[in-house]
Amino acid sequence: MREFIISLGGSMVNPEHIDFEFINRFVGIMRQVQKDRYGVVVGGGITARNYVNAMKKYTSNDFFMDEIGIRATRMNAMLLASAMGNKQEWIPESVVEGLTELNRRGTVVMGGTVPGHTTDTVSMLLAESAGIKDVINITSVDAVYSEDPRKNPNAIRFDRLDYDEAFRISLASYTGAGSNQFMDSVSLLIGKRAGINLHIISGKDFDNMEKCISGKKYVGTLVTGD
Ligand code: UTP
Repeated sequence: MREFIISLGGSMVNPEHIDFEFINRFVGIMRQVQKDRYGVVVGGGITARNYVNAMKKYTSNDFFMDEIGIRATRMNAMLLASAMGNKQEWIPESVVEGLTELNRRGTVVMGGTVPGHTTDTVSMLLAESAGIKDVINITSVDAVYSEDPRKNPNAIRFDRLDYDEAFRISLASYTGAGSNQFMDSVSLLIGKRAGINLHIISGKDFDNMEKCISGKKYVGTLVTGD
């Protein structure tokens, strides 16, 4: 039984513009790989970032910045659901709605839910609620590093990490709504309590992505409870 939840970084779907090449290749991989039950939770990309930054000019209230970011994630989710030929008529707005869709049809595409976290946490909660043990985070970095490797060339690259260490690294880079973290910190607490295997891979290497989604050996970082 092959089942997984993908946390698809919005920075893959629309980094500066809608990346049709990425979307088409991702959809091609998803068509090919064997899967029984799966979900895709999509981030907001540049649309979320632009709107969160615009809101910052008018309010310092993170709740409403998150609210506007959530709307961007749902736009990307709707686009991706169409690209995947997914017959779903709506974008679920809560984890329970997402789970209902997943149970009904064996698949779901959705975006954000409520303020206070990112679509990483939605992915983890969807996996936990469905009893799915693998979450794949497709993102703009090829692995988890001890620090941002663009700022510190001596940053350590991890092939494997436990949740406690991953949590420390994530928390150190938190800066409020629109933070640039490899996974948001709350998502790692959920992953730890639910015993989820978290696979972090680059969205730029399609062969590697195909391997990871198929459950084969891949290059990236594996975060587990041990
Ligand atoms: P993303 O999930 O895209 O977060 O949600 P991100 O980590 O900033 O970006 P990428 O996609 O991984 O590059 C965008 C923003 O929407 C709000 C947060 O402010 C988040 O930063 N959001 C999203 C929520 O408040 N709740 C959600 O469930 C999802």
